[in-house]
Amino acid sequence: MTVPLYVQIRESLIERIQSGEWPAGTRLPAERDLAAEFGVSRGTVRQAITDLVAKGLLRRVQGSGTYVAEPKVEMPTHILLSFTEAMRRQGIEPGARLVAVEVVPATRKLAERLRLTVGESVYRIVRVRLGNQQPMALEFSHFPVRLCPGLDRFDLERRSIYEVLREEYDLILVRAEQSLEPTLARRFEAEALGIAEGSPLMLWERVAFTATGLPVEYAKDLYRGDRVRFSMVLHLPG
Ligand code: GLP
Repeated sequence: MTVPLYVQIRESLIERIQSGEWPAGTRLPAERDLAAEFGVSRGTVRQAITDLVAKGLLRRVQGSGTYVAEPKVEMPTHILLSFTEAMRRQGIEPGARLVAVEVVPATRKLAERLRLTVGESVYRIVRVRLGNQQPMALEFSHFPVRLCPGLDRFDLERRSIYEVLREEYDLILVRAEQSLEPTLARRFEAEALGIAEGSPLMLWERVAFTATGLPVEYAKDLYRGDRVRFSMVLHLPG
């Protein structure tokens, strides 16, 4: 079986990235130069590059060129961590850009998840989460106002929400129910995350509880597929 030309080029490019010949941040040579070097058409080179952009190994910067991407961030999915903790564990500086903080009435779905009555007040907090200043995820978090009145007064760009809940409200989250599901970026999400509409995202849905089983948070997070990888530890069933 013959391996398509663009796959061969793609593998050569991967080899250069993985061997360290092209470290993160390297600007790729122009398509026509690569095409000349490999003796193939520009279309073939472009196809190989497009594949590597989709895999998250390369990053296109509009009007500037194509660069070798930083290695993906690892998000453990088998332990309960805040975004801040997950980033710090990898030596990445966590951050947040606040998109919205508002009080909304609980919809039926929210009321069910957070065990409230429909219409009760809930904080809806939308943040773009940053790792080393780069957008990693878009978070939509919901907290019952009666459990943490005044939560919107804290600096939620600088402080971890889980830390605020712990330190200011004595709400310690110890358990979460969570699911992961692939999805594609819609326009608003794409703009917030600085990616193209239709890019792959991982939707991460969570309800987090205190030790007494009180649900405190319902969150829907959208993680960039090109920047984040999900990992877990598995054991044989007990
Ligand atoms: C993770 C969780 C979210 C939670 C967030 C809190 O991203 N999936 O549900 O809201 O952490 O992060 P931090 O404490 O850094 O604000």
